[in-house]
Amino acid sequence: MHGMSDHAALSKLAAELARHDELYYRQAASELSDAEYDQLRDRHDALARKLKLPAWQRTPGDDRTEGFAKVRHRIAMLSLEKASDGDDGSAADKLATWETRTRKALELPDDRVLELLVEPKIDGISVGLTYRDGQLALAATRGDGVEGDDITAQVRAAGAVPLKVKTAGSFEVRGELYLPQAAFERLRDATSADGGRTLANPRNACAGLMKRKDAASLAGLGIAAFVYHLAWAEGCAVPATQNGIVAWLKGLGFPVNDHVSLERGAAAAAARCLAFADKRGGLDYGIDGMVVKLDDHRLQAQLGATEHHPKWGIAWKFPPERKATRLLDVIVQVGKSGKLTPVAVLEPVQLAGTTVSRASLHNFPEIARKDIRIGDRVLVEKAGEIIPQVVSAVAEARAKDARAVVPPTSCPSCGSPPVVDDVFISCPNPACPAQVRERLRHFASRAAMDIEGLGEAVVDQVVTSLGVRSPADLFRLQAEQLAGLERMGGKSAANLVAGLAAAKERGLARVLAGLALNQVGEKLSEDLAARFGSAERLLAISDPAELMQIDGVAERTAGVVHAQLANPAVRALFADLAAVGVQLTHRGAAVREVAGVAGKTFVLTGTLPTLTRPDAEKLIKAAGGKTSGSVSKKTDYVVAGADAGSKLEKAQTLGVAILDEAGLRALLG
Ligand code: IVH
Repeated sequence: MHGMSDHAALSKLAAELARHDELYYRQAASELSDAEYDQLRDRHDALARKLKLPAWQRTPGDDRTEGFAKVRHRIAMLSLEKASDGDDGSAADKLATWETRTRKALELPDDRVLELLVEPKIDGISVGLTYRDGQLALAATRGDGVEGDDITAQVRAAGAVPLKVKTAGSFEVRGELYLPQAAFERLRDATSADGGRTLANPRNACAGLMKRKDAASLAGLGIAAFVYHLAWAEGCAVPATQNGIVAWLKGLGFPVNDHVSLERGAAAAAARCLAFADKRGGLDYGIDGMVVKLDDHRLQAQLGATEHHPKWGIAWKFPPERKATRLLDVIVQVGKSGKLTPVAVLEPVQLAGTTVSRASLHNFPEIARKDIRIGDRVLVEKAGEIIPQVVSAVAEARAKDARAVVPPTSCPSCGSPPVVDDVFISCPNPACPAQVRERLRHFASRAAMDIEGLGEAVVDQVVTSLGVRSPADLFRLQAEQLAGLERMGGKSAANLVAGLAAAKERGLARVLAGLALNQVGEKLSEDLAARFGSAERLLAISDPAELMQIDGVAERTAGVVHAQLANPAVRALFADLAAVGVQLTHRGAAVREVAGVAGKTFVLTGTLPTLTRPDAEKLIKAAGGKTSGSVSKKTDYVVAGADAGSKLEKAQTLGVAILDEAGLRALLG
């Protein structure tokens, strides 16, 4: 039980980190200071360490999504050790070291050359494809490496891999699904015409597509794939070299990459990797490096794997793509807590699959340190292939009329003189229109109150035209007022009013997350709501130490949070929200006891046909039952799905009642 909730907490933290990464990197609009971000990451890492997770599970990046059936990988989907190439040629050294280590482990005689297969490292979505008797039987995402999402329907519809192959037996091939550049651009144009969210890059777009519930809509979008690895095979003869496998897969009709080459030794492999970096821009798919693999599968098997990665391969990572372009202007963005952030306005440049015209400049002292001036040619890069940022100015190319970037002496929105704190400057005026707008956008956003119909453009209008200033004002809006806004008919106005009414019931955790208090993100909001139960009790806390009862909240955070809760403006806001009928109590899953479930202990094992494990647990708890991770004499029921293992055996030995999903549902009524 305890372990389960920590795992859930960890994946929430990981999701929160991913969201901030996206805000920061993709939209150059961070909501957190660097220190706050670091703190969030520290909480994540501390919890991951506490759970003693292997490193590959510690990194955010688990793609598992609610609503997809879970698939346990027969062989874990590991990642590869990395040799990152910088300006210092360090990847070649790392590859040489890997070769020496590998040769030693294999006890190869000096005159034996190590045959290495070098392949492009496709920047797509990893997928495991299981074929049984010549038919595609299962497609699964990587997930956390151990368990992924079943995307068979999506893969079938996408048309990127054969549904039938001419061979007996069963096997699993692994590869990447990707969106070719042209397909990405088509999709992006169609989505933006639809008023949808801008797609960050081909990789993210592809990841989003493969998680569409409406699988049929994936046909004809141009989704493509490369397969490159045979995870296991039964009942069919397969070649004994990687090169042979690639040819075998190609012969069966699988899409394999054409730029695969067999090299003799690490030095030759490194030369190939270096040379291929220049070809990168000319491909219609993204690659983030090369993969170097032992060609001989017997040697591969001899080497084995660490808990993180197989020892038979290594990833040569290219440095992030960089391009030069002109810095046209620097604008100042006002964040929801008043932070004034410099944002570069660039002459549009094509970079890692997208057109970049805005980039982060972090803070003003950094601009001065790097001596970046308006009018300069600057180098822009996307770290992790997502974040556009200005790296440096190309000094030689400086124009005579280049202008220095001057930190603002007044807030661009309200004109208040900024205050300086360390490297950041902020607008101190809480009533600043830009801050008000940013706070309301955040309040309405999906991560917070999720107010249907209140997108950013509508927020802007209710602020400028209807005088909305605080979250509580939103709930006082009337349909007649809203109907007068631009591009808002009576129907959308009514929908928005309904959206606001629904949002009132989201509960304390979402309200807290929506208020954008310093240090109070989604996770802490959830914890605060669960611990204190109501805004009333939360506001009654007299000692910050009470906040430190929450896992991961240290003295400093407790102090910061407590001070904000004591702030008369924040207290007035809570009172105002209560006055307009916003629910300020915690919405723990309501328990409606079901006889036969209430008070009983359940253990879930294996994959259920339709319910995910978290969903099954929620149902059991909502009916008053408990769940546990291990089977004992105290267990009342074991709910077993496909591929149930030792827990099922133990249940049988102990004579514990065993249910399948249908049985569980029957019990739950
Ligand atoms: S071999 C142990 N070959 O990169 C995994 N992987 O960090 C063996 N990838 O998880 C994978 N192109 O998703 C291999 N030609 C290639 C690849 C490739 C992309 C991905 C794959 C893997 C990750 C390794």
